[in-house]
This record gives sequence, C-alpha cells and structure tokens, in this order.
Amino acid sequence: MDIDVLLKQMTLDEKIDQLMQLAAFLFDGASHEGEITGPLSDLGISNRTIHNSGSVLGGSGASEIKNIQASHLKTNRLKIPLLIMADIIHGYKTIFPHNLALSCSFDPGLVEETAKIAAKEAAVSGIHVTFAPMVDLVRDPRWGRVMESTGEDPYLNSELAKAFVRGFQGENIQTSKYSIAACVKHFAAYGAIEAGRDYNTVNMSERELREVYLPGYKAALDENAQMVMTAFNTVDGKPCSANKDLMRYLLRDEWGFDGVIISDWGSIRELIPHGVAEDEKNAAALAIEAGVDIEMMTSTYVSYLKELIEEGIIEESRVDESVRRILNLKKTLRLFENPYRFLDENKAKDIIFSEEHRLVARRAAEESIVLLENDGVLPIQKDDDVGLIGPFAESQDLLGPWSWIGDRDDVETIAMGMNKVLSKPFHTQSIQSVHTIKEEEMLGSIEVAKKVDKVILALGESSDMSGEGGSRSKIELPEVQLELLKKIHEVNKDIVVVLINGRPLDVTRVIPFAKAVVEAWFPGSCGGSAIGRILVGDKNPSAKLTMSFPDSVGQIPIYYNHHNTGRPYDHNNPHNRYVSKFIDGPNKPRYPFGYGLSYTTYAYDNLNLSQPVLTDNETINVSISVKNTGKRLGDEIVQLYLRDHVGEVVRPLKELKSFEKVRLAPGETKIVTFTISEEMLRYTHSDLRYSSDYGEFSVFVGTSSANTLEASFKYQMESEEN
Ligand code: IFM
Repeated sequence: MDIDVLLKQMTLDEKIDQLMQLAAFLFDGASHEGEITGPLSDLGISNRTIHNSGSVLGGSGASEIKNIQASHLKTNRLKIPLLIMADIIHGYKTIFPHNLALSCSFDPGLVEETAKIAAKEAAVSGIHVTFAPMVDLVRDPRWGRVMESTGEDPYLNSELAKAFVRGFQGENIQTSKYSIAACVKHFAAYGAIEAGRDYNTVNMSERELREVYLPGYKAALDENAQMVMTAFNTVDGKPCSANKDLMRYLLRDEWGFDGVIISDWGSIRELIPHGVAEDEKNAAALAIEAGVDIEMMTSTYVSYLKELIEEGIIEESRVDESVRRILNLKKTLRLFENPYRFLDENKAKDIIFSEEHRLVARRAAEESIVLLENDGVLPIQKDDDVGLIGPFAESQDLLGPWSWIGDRDDVETIAMGMNKVLSKPFHTQSIQSVHTIKEEEMLGSIEVAKKVDKVILALGESSDMSGEGGSRSKIELPEVQLELLKKIHEVNKDIVVVLINGRPLDVTRVIPFAKAVVEAWFPGSCGGSAIGRILVGDKNPSAKLTMSFPDSVGQIPIYYNHHNTGRPYDHNNPHNRYVSKFIDGPNKPRYPFGYGLSYTTYAYDNLNLSQPVLTDNETINVSISVKNTGKRLGDEIVQLYLRDHVGEVVRPLKELKSFEKVRLAPGETKIVTFTISEEMLRYTHSDLRYSSDYGEFSVFVGTSSANTLEASFKYQMESEEN
C-alpha cells in the first residue's frame, strides 16, 4: 500500500475523520458497550464520521470486533481498515497482578512473559494496539493509579517499560505472531499530580522532569513503542494535550518519535476547563498544532478542523501529517493486507484463559506478593487449625482496576487457594463489604477466631478504591476493618493479615495487632492459589516493594531517592530541632523501597570493588557474597545503589542502578557481581546536559534501599591515575 497515493485519494473530510477515535458501541456490528473508561458526552457526530473514523476504543471479543471491522469495510469508501485499540493493562482475560504488584518481582523477564500472554489473548480477539505500558513514575500513594505504575524509581521504571513493550510487540511488531502495538502513556508526568488527586496539576522543573519522570517513556520508545498517549495534567502551566514543548520539540524533534500521538479520553475538549482554550474550535487548533494526531472521545477535530483550515489558521499539511502517521501504523500492522490481523475465533477459544496462561498468572502473583511482617507465625503448618475471616476471605474482587475483560467468576478466591494447600478443613467467616460489617458477620468472625489456632484476616480495598478516579486522602484500611482486627485480637493473638489493595497503605494501626502482614495486592485471576501457597510456604516470598509505604499520610510524597537537604536529620541527635524532620513522627517510611521479607534469611558480606578508581574507559567490578542463612530455599533480590557526593546540582542519597535475583539453597553462598561504568553516573545538569562529573561516589549493595553495605570509589580522568 502506497500511503501517499492513498492520502491523495482522500477528501479533507475523510482525512479529518481518520483522526477520530470512538468507543466500540457507536459502530455498526457492536453488540456490547465495549470499554467505557471516561465520561460520555454528546459527541454531535454524524454517521459519516463514524463510517470514516480511523480507530475504535474497546470491542469485546473476536466476534464483535470482526463484525465491527466487516461493517466498517462495507461502508468506508476507500476500504481503510479500523485500528482496534484497548486497555490491556495487566492481562486480557487471564489477569495478572496489577503493574505495581508485578514490579515488586523485580523481574523484567516475568513482566515480558505476562505482556506476551496478554498480547496473544488480545491479538486473537482482534485487538491491534494496547494503551500500555503506563510508565508514569509515582511518589504519592493517594493517587489511585499508582496500581498501574511500576513505582518510584526511574531505573526500574525504564527496565520494566522496555520489558512490557518487548512482551506486547515481540521482536518485530510487523512480523511477530500475536503481537500488538504498544502505546506508552501518559505523556508526561501524570504520576506527579499534586496531592495525588486525579487529573490535578503538575509543576516541576524541566531538569527534574527529564531526570526522574521522562526516562520511562524514553525507554519504551527506544524499545520501539508505536504510539504515545498524552496525559490529562498540565506540566508547567500547559495541559499536555496542547503542549508543544512536550510533543513537537521533545518527542518529535529531540527524540525523533514519528509514531502516532493520541489524546487521552476527552482531553482535547478539557483544554477549555483547563483555561487555555476559549472553545472547542480553539481547543482543536491548539491540540493539532501541538502534535496530537488522534482525538479520543471528543469531537473537536471533526467539528472544527475543516473550518480552521478554510480560515487559514491551520495548514492542511498538518492534518496530512497526522493521517499519514495513522495510515503508516495501519501499514506496519499489515492491516491493508489483513484488516483482522491475528483475529481468530477458534484460536481464541483454545488459548484464552488456558491452563498454561493461568499457571503464569499464579507464578506472577507469587513473585509479586511482599511479606511485610512476620514474627515466625508464617508459614502456617498445613494441618494447623486455621480460621479465614474478612471481606476478602471469599471475595472474587481480586482482579483489580483495569481488568475489564477479566471475569470475576473465574477468580480463585483466597478460600479456594487455602483449600488446595491445607490438609484439613478450615473455618471461614466472610464479610460482604469492605466498608460495613453486619453484626452477625462481626459475631461470626469472633466465634471463628476463638476456636482456631491461627487467624488469616483478609482485609483491604475494593477495586473501585484505586485505579482511575480512585484517589484517596486517607490511605488506611476502612475504619470497620481496623475495628474487626482489634476485636479478633482480643480473642486470638495469632493473626496473619493478608492485604488486598492497589496502593501502598498506611498500615500503622494494623501492625500492633498482627503477627504477620502479607501484601498480596490485587493478585489477579489465580491470586487465591498464590496466596495459599505463600501462606503455607510452598512458595517462599521474594518480592520487594517498589514504592515506599508511608508511616503517615503527612509524609507523602515519600520516596527513597530523595535529597539530603542542607540540614539533614541526624539519628544520633534526634532532639536537634533545626533539622529537616517532623516533630510528631519519623522521617523514615514504614517500609522503604526495595524492602520485603522471606521465610529464610540472608547475610551480605565482603563487598569488594575491583579497583578504587573509575575512568572513562574502564569499569569497576563490584562483588558481594550473599549467603542463605536460613532453612529454606529462597530467591533474593540483590540491589545496587550509587551516590554521587558532590554534583553540579544536588544528587539523591541513593539511586538504584542495578539488581539481580539469585536463588540460594539453605546454607548456600553466591558471589553476585555488578559492573559500574561511567554511564551509570550520568545525570541531568542545570543546563539540561546529561553527563557525569568527576568526584567521589559511594556504592551500596544490599537487601533493600535502607539495608546495604557501603564502599566508595573515585571517578577521575585517566591521566590522574598515575
Ligand atoms: O487508556 C486510558 C487512559 O489511561 C485513561 N483514560 C481512558 C483511556 C482509554 O480507555
């Protein structure tokens, strides 16, 4: 297909209609509502626009998507196929743990495997593009969408962004079987919204934006992600969907991205309430000029672009540029040869939610569950007398937000999972709601707790308490659940709390009453089995937090890679008032980045550098011995951090630069080695130069960002060495 020839055949109306993305339910052939993930407003569009529009949002399953595409090809004059896009965020029908959970595995290979399965299930169902990966770096657990992110660290964020793209797109998006195109989002810095309140403002220096928030998007694009979605927020006073600096100058000119940019749902019309556009016409002009190719679910382009061109405000070539990109993506995906791409109803029946996929979902959940506390009560014995209590005891609300094709009826509950691993029956008291506990549920819970040796208390947030539009100003468990915990504690002290939730919670009022706390997140379709296996020790937990858990909401934003300040807190002199601290609580988070317990223990020793000096042409090998000092096989995530002691601008106290997961049998020791190179010392200077400075550095290796061994080296010019 020659795109230029096709473009010449299109009328201006047809070209503008290509820029419109509509939800599936508006198309002929649709049988469901599809995916509604934003407000529905009166679009005021004609059938002509629907018949000529370039892409669809959602579509539920192979047969519906086939019908939509077939009807479209009948009505579309030039037979230009539709691009079918959807939010395949942590699985299609086989739902994996949500992304923040998955990131706690520190396992790019596993992340890639889950994305590959999601792509395969989606591709046979007719989907061409996923609105993923979401790589917004996050530091504020009040934001509901932290569950979609991979946490607070730019390096890990970038490594996992690449893994997601590789999984979705395969080796080559054009030729890899069952691949779908990735759309990295939300450009840019949506994760930095003030107070974690969704859609709120972002304000930061360009230097910080580049150093902390942009690397994830860049990594995804370096891995060849085909699309970018704009963010809802402003950056430096400019809403992202009208932000020329971000789209034209940075994405296009500086990074050379030539793929499709899509607005988020309604975000072009939202330029009006943002206060940068007077009306829809003005909004359309700002967005197209800034570089948005596809408008999602508002109709400012189809309503006003023609007029704007006729009035000479917008060049027609600007529309051509966007249409060309969209058609090129269709060509890359070979839709002109086969508009259905990998859609295959029979294959869909065979592979979707197959046992093979479910096993990966269970493994992914096991690798994502973080053991936060354990005084030895875990693992439980398979023949222990156990009571399972709480709103998540038998709940199928384990998929979490953004799992729209996932079916709750398919979910293995915690009770089902425990049934599989315990050798004798256990007592259960379910609670129907996360917000209220009926009197009989409370009494039943206390009765169960009285008669068993150990209580598994499954508490948490329902899935609508996080995700988009799920910001919370208080991030504790709902009060009734804390009350339940206390009442159970009055009759039984052997309590294991299993948390189901989408964000780091404030667990300060949980800890005094629990002998163990297991952070299970929303563990996905096979989460119940994974939790069961972790509780009895069939799987030894190994995951580590990728987002700090605050000690109180007042500490937020809280993250490990912060600056020292001019008056750092001194642990040896805690009463010194005039230092950077709170007078009513600690500076330290409840649990730091990189933290997570195991049923075994590890000893770190002999941190050794191959040489004390780094030069531009040489690297330093760092080695450390890690011993499994406990009685169980375990996987330990060994983390390497660096600190640059004197920078041109202030540098974080620690920055993750590498990690490795090692498997150790009881008593086994392994030497883990890392390589430090000049590249790892680079940072964004005040003039936005990304380079390194000579000077003193510390290297930290350990089991979490707060528990490391330290050594130092000097980075200097070659000649200084002699
Ligand atoms: O992809 C999403 C985005 O993350 C939030 N708004 C709606 C889009 C499409 O569903």
